[in-house]
Amino acid sequence: MNWFKKVVQKMSPTKDSPPKQSNAYDLIGGDKVIKAIAHEFYQQMQTRADTQPLLALHRAPIADSEVKLYEFLSGWLGGPQLYQQKYGHPALRARHMPFAIDESMRDQWLLCMQAALDKCVKKPEHRQAIIQALSTLADHMRNQ
Ligand code: HEM
Repeated sequence: MNWFKKVVQKMSPTKDSPPKQSNAYDLIGGDKVIKAIAHEFYQQMQTRADTQPLLALHRAPIADSEVKLYEFLSGWLGGPQLYQQKYGHPALRARHMPFAIDESMRDQWLLCMQAALDKCVKKPEHRQAIIQALSTLADHMRNQ
């Protein structure tokens, strides 16, 4: 995870960072934290008034979408490639094509993710690096 490594290397004092903690997955706390992010992301989507249009786009049971997001994030952050092992190449943009995703949907998605990161990831510089990279990815999902 080069993008994340570069950002946090500048910010983390080396004393606090054992050499094995070199990717985003380990730095933010591994499996437990990724699971918590995916869970909180969908909690936010279900409870916020301003993200109901995004919730309505979903067809699958939310519990299934939560597991898929967790599996994807695990690999994307440098941990076990859980999504890829089950479903093959993520091809995320293609998988989002059946859904009408405009700027408003993108922003609703990012609102839920920002809130989930605020709640689950301890260090502000880690939250910042992750949301920055996810903003680019989310914008790439727009198909209108
Ligand atoms: C930009 C705004 C986005 C919107 C509006 C959106 C919306 C959706 C919707 C409606 C689904 C289908 C859920 C269902 O089948 O019921 C989905 C699936 C999924 N999304 Fe997103 N998404 C967005 C961005 C992202 C981003 C940035 C990621 C990655 C970090 C992501 C990861 C996933 C994954 C892994 C799935 C499951 C795909 C599958 O295997 O079916 N999404 N998304």
